[in-house]
Amino acid sequence: MTDVSKQKAYEEVLTTIEALIEGQSDLISVMSTVSCELFHAFDHFNWVGFYRRVDATTLKVGPYQGRHGCLTIDIRRGVCGACAREAAIQIENDVLQARSHIACSAATKAEIVLPVLDQDGNVAAVLDIDSDRSSVFDDIDVTALQQVTRWVEAVNDSITSTQEPIYPGERPNGVKM
Ligand code: SME
Repeated sequence: MTDVSKQKAYEEVLTTIEALIEGQSDLISVMSTVSCELFHAFDHFNWVGFYRRVDATTLKVGPYQGRHGCLTIDIRRGVCGACAREAAIQIENDVLQARSHIACSAATKAEIVLPVLDQDGNVAAVLDIDSDRSSVFDDIDVTALQQVTRWVEAVNDSITSTQEPIYPGERPNGVKM
């Protein structure tokens, strides 16, 4: 896939997502729609979905498309955990070389994970996209997918109060990050 065709595919899918979620205020509906549209936009995406932060240390799988994904992720583990801990985008273009990739599928070769922040800047969820081809994620994906997470953040902000910060006070079991 060339940069131009990738850019065009993102333009199309973002236009579709924006139209579909306009006026929608239900987070599960929006996350489901985003997962569905992105999953079907690119042949190499083999898993697209959200993990929601349910407490200081735990991500739980949310709406997704693809085969089985871990139901629970401790935020000390995996690429999703790193994204949640650091509130920063993670790109692993060769998951076999990744420090901490949790393999939900042997077919996955690359992964990008973006944070979804609440209005206080705490991580409310992450958007996780897996690819069955390596070396596919770059700035084009980042720019397009950040637009998607901004839309999800806006919906999340409209329906939630605040999330508890990660690791308030004592860290769980004294384990160092
Ligand atoms: N690979 C992720 C786990 C989630 S599955 O890919 C759906 C990770 O390393 O955090």
